[in-house]
Amino acid sequence: MRQGAVKAMHRLAVVGVGARGWGLARLAARHAGRAQIAAVVEPVASRRSAFGDEFDIPEDCRFSTHQELLSHCQDLSGVFVTSTVRTHAEVACECLEAGVPVFLEKPMALDIAEAGRIVATAKQTGVRLQVGFNMRYMPFCVKLKELVAQGELGRILSIEWKEALAPSHWAEYCRHPSYNRRAALGSWLLEKCCHDVDIINWLVDAPCVRVACFGSRSYFNPRPDVPEQCSEQCPIEAGCIFSARRLYGDREPDPTGRRRDMPHICVYHSGADLVDHQSAILEYANGVTVGFSLLPVTHFESRYMLICGSEATLRGCSTRNELRVHPYLSGEEIVCDPGPASGGHAGADPGIVEAFLDWLDDPTKLPKTTGTEGLEAMIVACGIDLAMQERRVVELDELRGSACV
Ligand SMILES: NC(=O)c1ccc[n+]([C@@H]2O[C@H](COP(=O)([O-])OP(=O)(O)OC[C@H]3O[C@@H](n4cnc5c(N)ncnc54)[C@H](O)[C@@H]3O)[C@@H](O)[C@H]2O)c1
Repeated sequence: MRQGAVKAMHRLAVVGVGARGWGLARLAARHAGRAQIAAVVEPVASRRSAFGDEFDIPEDCRFSTHQELLSHCQDLSGVFVTSTVRTHAEVACECLEAGVPVFLEKPMALDIAEAGRIVATAKQTGVRLQVGFNMRYMPFCVKLKELVAQGELGRILSIEWKEALAPSHWAEYCRHPSYNRRAALGSWLLEKCCHDVDIINWLVDAPCVRVACFGSRSYFNPRPDVPEQCSEQCPIEAGCIFSARRLYGDREPDPTGRRRDMPHICVYHSGADLVDHQSAILEYANGVTVGFSLLPVTHFESRYMLICGSEATLRGCSTRNELRVHPYLSGEEIVCDPGPASGGHAGADPGIVEAFLDWLDDPTKLPKTTGTEGLEAMIVACGIDLAMQERRVVELDELRGSACV
């Protein structure tokens, strides 16, 4: 954009208004005079109407399908696709074909072929496609990338990375109907950890070549000694850290449906089929090796990392916003300040929404993650899952071919 030029008012639509759609819309709407939430697509009528009312969306711009949106609203500047992952490919491709720039939430799609179709459609139409890897905008990860890229650690040799959840968060993944089945998600690693895979890809800055992985659901399985629903009658209720009555019982329902839809089903009987622990190893083209573990139930929710370089080691804890570098020569610990982590997802959400608006203003201002980065994370995440399923080392070139971009 020319210096001094007036920024356009962007008319945005949101497709799918669960917690994520609502959150991104509120952030975009903060840019008053620059962005307006002009239309909504949501099949659940009560949610559509609550969202429409909050953002003053006229009745004739509230739809239950994206096809209705595209046939009635020809003047859209962009769309947030925040519906469930199984809808992403169809919605994103049809919006791109209609010429509407797309912000597509992660993961891009259920499988590599679908993600490849989205990237191919963006290429063929020339329409902008941003992927919602907000962690690249999190001050903590921005600082991490800066330290690695500036050579503070010397040459990177290996990375240990853990994603650790608190019991309450894991319980949501057992209970939430959008999040507890492989058929709905692709895989737990794809849904939850494609963020981590993307950040690791970004830090290593080379293609991942091969992966191996072990994992299973070995603990959160049906127990004959407890009932299917949380209740006072459950013999373990008093000491159960996953009790739905304890976690959500007295909370007000929230309009995004996240709490309201959360069944009070026991975490052992939820029917969820996602792994409850998983560890992977990855090898990159530049020789860097990575150990990655998903730890669903831990005392302190965070991403933890240990990055070993030829000249220093870096230790990080994302929740504490803490990065420490240990140079071997001086033996001193250097505490690095990532800066304030305010705003959704430790400061990541405001940044990624602003990047979308900036890209709408100026097509040369590329965001940090487009379809290219989204697809690469899909390939690595799906490769890890395949390696776990088939108990073998997966060469990722096997999978790159199925993207057909
Ligand atoms: N980047 C992040 O940090 C982050 C955080 C949370 C969720 N997400 C992603 O955002 C997406 C949505 O997550 P959520 O937690 O809001 O899920 P959700 O299930 O709570 O909400 C999804 C909404 O989409 C609606 N929907 C379903 N099919 C639709 C269709 N065909 N058209 C329009 N709407 C449809 C549902 O009715 C629901 O209201 C997922 O892909 C998730 O992985 C990203």
